[in-house]
Formats: sequence, C-alpha cells, structure tokens
Amino acid sequence: MTQKLLEVTLSRVWQQTEEIRTFELSPTEGALPSFEAGAHIDIYTDVGPRPYSLCHLHVVDGPYVVGIKREPDGRGASRWLHDTCRVGHRLQIGPPRNNFRLAPQAAHHCLMAGGIGITPVLAMAKALWQRGSSFELVCFFRGRSHAPFLEEMRTAPWNQRVRFHFDDSPAHQVHLDDLCAAQPVGTHFYACGPAGFMAAVRQATRLRPPEQVHQESFSALPAAEKSGRTTFTVELARSGKTVLVEHGESLLQALRRAGHPPITSCEMGVCGSCVTRYLSGTPVHADAFLSADERLRELAICCAGSLSERLVLDL
Ligand code: FES
Repeated sequence: MTQKLLEVTLSRVWQQTEEIRTFELSPTEGALPSFEAGAHIDIYTDVGPRPYSLCHLHVVDGPYVVGIKREPDGRGASRWLHDTCRVGHRLQIGPPRNNFRLAPQAAHHCLMAGGIGITPVLAMAKALWQRGSSFELVCFFRGRSHAPFLEEMRTAPWNQRVRFHFDDSPAHQVHLDDLCAAQPVGTHFYACGPAGFMAAVRQATRLRPPEQVHQESFSALPAAEKSGRTTFTVELARSGKTVLVEHGESLLQALRRAGHPPITSCEMGVCGSCVTRYLSGTPVHADAFLSADERLRELAICCAGSLSERLVLDL
C-alpha cells in the first residue's frame, strides 16, 4: 500500500521561536492539491514520513506552509528538517489529508491550541473569519518567547478573537475549565496540543456532546494503556494471507516482515494513516485518533494489539 507522492521544493524558511521554524514548500511543477483548514501533509524525511499540519489556507498555485518544532529527543524527523534541509532542498510529501475538520455549522467555535498545536488551529481561525462564523481562539504557551505566529495573530483582522495564556505570566492566565464551562450550548470545541494539554481539554469538555469536541493529538497514549496478547494471528481477508505476530513484535512489524506494509506516518497512533477496518477479533486500541464508535470497526495498525488469538483485517 502506497500513497501517490508530490515533489516540492523548500522555498522559504523562517524562525518563529528558538525551537520552531516555518517551512514553505512550493510545487516543483504544476499546482499542489487544495485542502481545507485542519489538514496535514506527510513529509518524507530520512527517518520516514511524518505528519505536519498546514497552518494557512489554500491558495491556488500557492505553496504549503507548515510550522515545525525541533524535538531534540524525538525520533529524528524534526531534527533532520531543522538541521539538514535548506532552501532549495527537494522533498517528497503526501497529499493533504484532513482528520480535523471544522463543523459545517455551529453556534460558536472555540479553538484551543497548546504550543505547536497552534498550526492547524491557526488555519481554522483564518477559515472561520473568512466564513464570517462566530469563533474565539485561545492559545496556551509556556511564555512569549515560546509562542510561534505571535505577530501574525496580533496583526490579523481577527485579533480581537484571540486570547493568550502564558505559563510564566500571572497577568495572562486562562483556566481551561472556566473557558469551556463559559461556552454557549451548541459550541464546537477544537483542540490540538501535547498529551497533558489534551487530557486537560478532555476533562474540561467531558459534559459536552462528544460530537462537538474535536481533537488532534501529536503524542501517543502512555504505554500503560497498551496491553493484550504477546502473540496472535492476523488474517488478511482480501488476500487470504495469514501472518503470525510473534513475541516481542508489533502488528506493524509483523505485517512489514510478511511483505504487507500498511501506509504509515506518525507510527504512534495520532495521524490516522494506518487506520484499517477489522472484520473479527478483539483488538486492543492504543491510538489517540479513533472515536469509541470507530473503534468498533477500525483499528490503527501502528499501535494496536489483540486480545483474541485471531484478528481479521480488511486487507
Ligand atoms: S501511522 Fe499514524 S496512526 Fe498509525
């Protein structure tokens, strides 16, 4: 399974904060596909594809723009992009995909961003302003010096809709519980940020209808939430093949070993690239992507296990 890749040239890079840069990717030839706010692309790095959210609105014949934080202790993709890629560098990317869409209609939209989670949310604020929708954007940053896109938000025509929380500034504090409780009935909530922030958002919105709470994570569930059998058999229903997941091996590793590599990107259960239907068996879900309802039919191959001896996938 592969996705059709696009070739782009790194046309501009600029520093947002000490650890965050904006990367502008221009088409090497032709125009890049359109997308809606909330979409992300996979950038193929020297350690494999990684998902990055688009932080702008689609412009015909325009570039893609992503904001990337250099993670010194990450798996290497952001270090490679920051340390190795320079203007003029050619890169391969996947076409935009969107798992984090704006609701077509809502009484009000409450956008919440933690740190680099601002990237998809920034595009959403621009789209809602264009639509003339009711919205507010609340940004949670460690401090001003860690806040990307600050100048862009301050000078945007919708700057009156933005509030900032800075951990290091007693004058700029926003409490998530108070923020969410104050939102009118019918509000749709959107949140993107690190694990602790997302857990706090889930807690603050727990009494709201789940279909009105939209989340995009960029970190996996804690290892403690993963469990299941150490070996199990996977049947690939379409090809009729059977693969044994051996002790110490993940489902993803077993499928790759057997010559059936699924499409992957984040490989930690947050992007949805590897989501696949299962037809029977009892998977153990460890992703931060699928809803409870979706988990009845689908699993994220990169981090799923199995409680049953046999798992049948629609592959
Ligand atoms: S590769 Fe991202 S969820 Fe599996």
